[in-house]
Amino acid sequence: MTNIIFYYTGTGNSLHAAKRASAALGGAELIHMGRKRDHGYKALTADAVGFVFPVYAWGPPVAVEKFLKRLDIAKPTYTFTILTHGGAPADTLPMWDDMLRGKGFRNDAGWALRAVDNYIPFYNPPDPEKQAGINERLDSALDTVCERIQKREKNDIKGSLTGKFARYLIHPMWASHVNPSDKNWKVSEKCTGCGICAKVCPVGNITISAEKRPTWSHACEQCMACFHWCPEHALTWGKKGADYNHYHHPAVKVSELFPTDK
Ligand SMILES: Cc1cc2nc3c(=O)[nH]c(=O)nc-3n(C[C@H](O)[C@H](O)[C@H](O)COP(=O)(O)O)c2cc1C
Repeated sequence: MTNIIFYYTGTGNSLHAAKRASAALGGAELIHMGRKRDHGYKALTADAVGFVFPVYAWGPPVAVEKFLKRLDIAKPTYTFTILTHGGAPADTLPMWDDMLRGKGFRNDAGWALRAVDNYIPFYNPPDPEKQAGINERLDSALDTVCERIQKREKNDIKGSLTGKFARYLIHPMWASHVNPSDKNWKVSEKCTGCGICAKVCPVGNITISAEKRPTWSHACEQCMACFHWCPEHALTWGKKGADYNHYHHPAVKVSELFPTDK
């Protein structure tokens, strides 16, 4: 039987982690959760199953929650989750574990790994030297996690009191406003209409107009892929971003973000 890793990514941190986990399993089918969020899969079976995605506002991305609701999969022999985050994962792991329980199984193991924070509405991402340091530490954390995955190790996933505040108040509030928030994106005259932003959008929310400008269709997940992968640095979030550092994981090529039928 095959192994499957379901992943979601905007700037490549989680795809990088998913690829490393796949190698630790001796190979896995990589399935993108964003593009399949509205129809999911029916009657899947797999030996080991991994979920790898970023933390968004102290919880899973909305597209990932939607995907899980539609997913129909038999209980795997080993299930794990890897989250990537910018330093504050809160209770995302136990929250996700409870969501999996609705599918009739739980995580055997879960890890939340610090990665470069890509969320420009709140922060200017770190400079390239700091990005490299964070990625080096991410890789050494992944060395340990992958060893554990290889051995099918289990661990305990526990929540905290403060995590509950994030989980039941902040995350649902953010999630209820996220889709139409793309009205914040602004395009400068640097835009060449190359269409990379449309191709890297994990939920297909961007089209290129007849005037060769991106337009957003209010199904935004705020993943920041359009901002960070723009080769001209032509996007801003309101007034934020014009002078910000850009970021994508150095081991992930832009073409790996482009839609496939997977
Ligand atoms: C919409 C959004 C919300 C985020 N919220 C959090 C958060 O609550 N806590 C945190 O530690 N990092 C947060 N981050 C940072 C990401 O989790 C982090 O940069 C992640 O590694 C990005 O993964 P990716 O490169 O696979 O897209 C957020 C990023 C985005 C885009």
